[in-house]
Amino acid sequence: MSSRTTSPEDRYTAEPFVPDGADLTALREAAAGCRGCPLHRDATRTVFGEGAADARVMLVGEQPGDQEDRQGRPFVGPAGQVLDRALAQAGIDPGEAYVTNAVKHFKFTRAEPRKRRIHKAPTLREAAACAPWLAAELAVVEPELIVVLGATAGKALLGSSFKVTEARGTVLEREIHGRPERLVPTVHPSSVLRADDREAAYQGLVADLDVAARLLR
Ligand code: URA
Ligand code: SF4
Repeated sequence: MSSRTTSPEDRYTAEPFVPDGADLTALREAAAGCRGCPLHRDATRTVFGEGAADARVMLVGEQPGDQEDRQGRPFVGPAGQVLDRALAQAGIDPGEAYVTNAVKHFKFTRAEPRKRRIHKAPTLREAAACAPWLAAELAVVEPELIVVLGATAGKALLGSSFKVTEARGTVLEREIHGRPERLVPTVHPSSVLRADDREAAYQGLVADLDVAARLLR
């Protein structure tokens, strides 16, 4: 019998599921079977990142939403449509970016059984559990630039003191998972859809993405 000084939640981690030295295809296959934290139980499937291994820019969102969970692809729902439009307007071809999320399973609640699934923000602990997947994606893709979409991605990559309002539209240089990275944070595209003034919020997103686009020129 062991006396437990930590809660079982402290052991949440994707680490044992991540194969060493794997390419994106092998990582994606392994991630499909991840049980590193409880989020895999209620979600339909793992939504791994998508894009070329030689992509110059990596976009990191929060977690898959309802549509992403159904289709198994990141940013294919309403937030993804906003993101693609804003990227194109800033001069970044969405098809040339590697797109992923800090957390790879959809977390949700239901107001009532069989009712619509409502997005629930992942905890820092869930994001930390999932971080080995993002670290593996970064190691393979080695992007020139990471675009950080919102607070969850920001905290996952830059620490819990990250604040979107302070960091958005600036260029940060940090060591992340042992590699020097350049990052441009911005708001999460779904916040544009919730904003009172959607047009102003959208133009703010485009302005931040312009900063990223200039670095890629
Ligand atoms: N929101 C995200 O953060 N990621 C997705 O893939 C979809 C919506
Ligand atoms: Fe694994 Fe991440 Fe899914 Fe948790 S959310 S089970 S760590 S892939």
